[in-house]
Amino acid sequence: MPSANGETLQAVPAPVSQPVSKEITILYGSQTGNAQGIAESSSKTLKEKGYDVTVSSMSDFKPNQLKKLKNLLIIVSTHGEGDPPDNAISFHEFVHGKRAPQLEDLHFSVLSLGDSSYEFFCQTGKEFDKVLEDLGGTRLTPRVDCDLDYDEPAAEWILNVVESLNDTQEEAVSSVSSANVPATSGESQYSRTNPFQAEVLENINLNGRGSNKETRHLEISLEGSNLSYEPGDSLGIYPENDAVLVDMLLDELKWNPEEIVTVNKQGDVAPLKQALITNFEITVLTKPLLQQAAQFTENEKLHEMLSAGHEEELKNYLSGRDLLDLIQDFGPWAASPQDFVSMLRKMPARLYSIASSLEANPDEVHLTIGALRYESFGRNRNGVCSILCAERLEPGHTLPVYIQHNQNFKLPENGETPIIMVGPGTGVAPFRAFMQEREERGAEWKSWMFFGDQHFVTDFLYQTEWQKWLKGGVLTKMDVAFSRDSEEKVYVQHRMLEQSKEFFQWLEDGAVLYICGDEKNMAHDVHETLIDIIEKEGNMTREQAEDYVARMQQEKRYQRDVY
Ligand code: 2AM
Repeated sequence: MPSANGETLQAVPAPVSQPVSKEITILYGSQTGNAQGIAESSSKTLKEKGYDVTVSSMSDFKPNQLKKLKNLLIIVSTHGEGDPPDNAISFHEFVHGKRAPQLEDLHFSVLSLGDSSYEFFCQTGKEFDKVLEDLGGTRLTPRVDCDLDYDEPAAEWILNVVESLNDTQEEAVSSVSSANVPATSGESQYSRTNPFQAEVLENINLNGRGSNKETRHLEISLEGSNLSYEPGDSLGIYPENDAVLVDMLLDELKWNPEEIVTVNKQGDVAPLKQALITNFEITVLTKPLLQQAAQFTENEKLHEMLSAGHEEELKNYLSGRDLLDLIQDFGPWAASPQDFVSMLRKMPARLYSIASSLEANPDEVHLTIGALRYESFGRNRNGVCSILCAERLEPGHTLPVYIQHNQNFKLPENGETPIIMVGPGTGVAPFRAFMQEREERGAEWKSWMFFGDQHFVTDFLYQTEWQKWLKGGVLTKMDVAFSRDSEEKVYVQHRMLEQSKEFFQWLEDGAVLYICGDEKNMAHDVHETLIDIIEKEGNMTREQAEDYVARMQQEKRYQRDVY
């Protein structure tokens, strides 16, 4: 079997006395739980083939064990501007650092997850793939970079890994043990690839009249699905595109909405308009899409933008534009409707942090969704899923959903561990779930909530619930920051800083710190403030304070759900 670099791998027959070659370690680095989900299903596939599989988050893996591994599979997503997810940071640093061992005996393969609408597509996976080779490892199979629609390539990747392992280990895997196959009874039949049609029970606006914001509270029924979740998990929703936008596209190209097109590899068909509403992404542009589209137009502007030396221009073009812009900007087009839809990405699911406890609301899941409306390049634009929820999802309607488990955002098992929650805006969602769970379980965690939004009068999300929890002792302490009620902006991190002594004491007492909400501004600034507080109150240097935070992360005492 040829390896990625074109060399032929030597088949190494494993002596019977060395069952070690059947051992495979899967390490995942996951922010939202996708990589973890694939790690688990890949493990299942390998176990069915008789392999002895260990699955671990990168943050739980002891780097000094790396040298001992024979077979390593890495499944990792890329976050933000090409960064590793939180639970991959320390392992990523380790393999790139001076203490990284030589790995001549290692066979490895990397599956990277990403989003081709971002500049640093699958960057973290690429880095692991390269560094493992640099350290002397041999690829079992070439790295696979997955876009949002990762199910098929991921399934194919693990089958290729199995085939390659069989080649390198021949007889070692002769006895397939069915005992290793995990029991599946009791599990729901519904999943990301087979979503449940869930009914909307309630859909209200949480903001008061006059607010700049519209935040929807949705209650959705899971009755009959057998789906279950824990606080910290997310709900995946497959939204529909706005029919008005689809009509604009069809008008622009003078296409017949009823023309039948093929919508997937299995050959399913649908009328064009319906396909553009339900099956495809039409609101995001990616470089691969523009490259494919370029085949169907002679428009020089597009060809120039895709040529070497125009990377910055391309990046600027892709940001904030959609398929309608592309079609308007670079015609005339010599493409059929089928040509067009074949270039589009499958409609991706949106993940929302769950705002309820299943214990407290049997058969229900609640969400807190901020409606996204903005103007760019002379046109009003809408968040696909949030505006579907805000404008077109009356109670009684159904929508396809699934549960995404997220081990990176979990309540402490020990009921005596204090928790600090920082969740401005829709970041409040998982903490409502935490409080409901605590109330239900009668747990004893000391808890401290930081909430912020623009105005007290209109934007204090779930205000009466918070007051009830405070009064009843479910919540120990709450601080709020309403940014636009005073002349100077006040944010949650200002409230943290005002009470830095007590905040640091909670950390010293072993508190778990949770951050949920906007990543780029809020979570970044809160992170900096956290380091400031530790530096000041712990009498530490900046570096020592950063190490303190890294240790918290390692011990799962700093967990983030940011977007
Ligand atoms: P603003 O809209 O007045 O700027 C939830 O959206 C709350 O988060 C709002 O009060 C918003 O304030 C605030 N916010 C905006 N940027 C922030 C940042 N960098 N750090 C913390 N909070 C922020």
